[in-house]
Amino acid sequence: MSYFRRNINEMQAYVPGFQPKEPGYIKLNTNENPYPPAPGVVEVLHGAPEQMLRKYPDPTADVFRRRAAQVLGTRPERILCGNGSDDLLNIAIRSFCGEGDILAFPSPTYMLYEMLTRIQGATPMAVDFPEDFALPPALATTGAGLTLLSNPNPPSGTFVSAEEVSRLAESVSGVLLVDEAYADFAEDNCLALVEEHDNVIVTRTLSKSYSLAGLRFGFAVAQEPLIEGLAKVKDSYNVTSLGIAAATAAIADQQWLKQNVEKVKTTRGRLTAALQGMGFACWPSQSNFVFARVPRGQEAERVFRQLFERKVLVRYFNAPRLDDCLRISVGTDEEIDVLVAALEEILVSQEQTAGSSPTGEQA
Ligand SMILES: Cc1ncc(COP(=O)(O)O)c(C=O)c1O
Repeated sequence: MSYFRRNINEMQAYVPGFQPKEPGYIKLNTNENPYPPAPGVVEVLHGAPEQMLRKYPDPTADVFRRRAAQVLGTRPERILCGNGSDDLLNIAIRSFCGEGDILAFPSPTYMLYEMLTRIQGATPMAVDFPEDFALPPALATTGAGLTLLSNPNPPSGTFVSAEEVSRLAESVSGVLLVDEAYADFAEDNCLALVEEHDNVIVTRTLSKSYSLAGLRFGFAVAQEPLIEGLAKVKDSYNVTSLGIAAATAAIADQQWLKQNVEKVKTTRGRLTAALQGMGFACWPSQSNFVFARVPRGQEAERVFRQLFERKVLVRYFNAPRLDDCLRISVGTDEEIDVLVAALEEILVSQEQTAGSSPTGEQA
């Protein structure tokens, strides 16, 4: 006998990328930033006074909201902070979708969307992306209370223009949440849509571009009525005092952010060129990872495992449309050099194995 609700029994758990317990791995599997956070972040954490721990945090994280509003050119009242952007996704789904309601998203995308929908007892409506990951027109007419669009989208890394997203916002019948976890690595973003549309929420995270995945801090930007409604649903103290202080120092240092983002983008170009040189097909990435289909005759899962044996971690998804591909986070240049050397070795050894099979056929 199970004590759980039926939808919890029936759903699959979300499986995050492997987090090794020992050192020595090259970690290109969870889209973390290979560079350290801004120096001010570490200073703030070292100098944290005792009462920061003894007392409850500011429930609305106003210090952060004021700083972020300045940086982003919006108002503090239009910002809601969360324990990572996953927390904000969860709050939005609980706010707009009840049991049996439809929640729409293009697919394939961030797998957590479906899990959060099922936990809520709502019905996920996955609208297939075309092969080039352009926005599927059918997403505009689902009738969903909430539509989620990750832009750039994982695992493809592809980006949909703000003009198209604006048209989508006009067409959907409910709220459109644009998950901009990777927007700092893209050539544009949808933040300005918040001013024009009363049904748009943009979420951001400090986990990727700000190198703070361990801190767990994200924020949503939307017009005041949406922010006020979402605030009713969040936990009272959903971000910590240390988190608020560190996130404020991080967002204040835009120069540090831009410098690291530029480094990641340059290495992304190198990684893409190297993969293409080995016969991989890469989708154009505007994020801090590259999604690549393995060369003809190679098996993505085998390449993934052989990289793992060499302590190089990348992401493999055993799912339709994704299972002949690898998602590779952009590391440092040195890490990418190790990955590329390992891939060259693995591809050659697989070709030799296939060539020496009894039938001589390619795998
Ligand atoms: C599209 C997308 N949204 C949200 C998140 C979660 O971000 P956070 O660390 O802020 O919870 C991720 C993490 O990988 C992601 O890929």
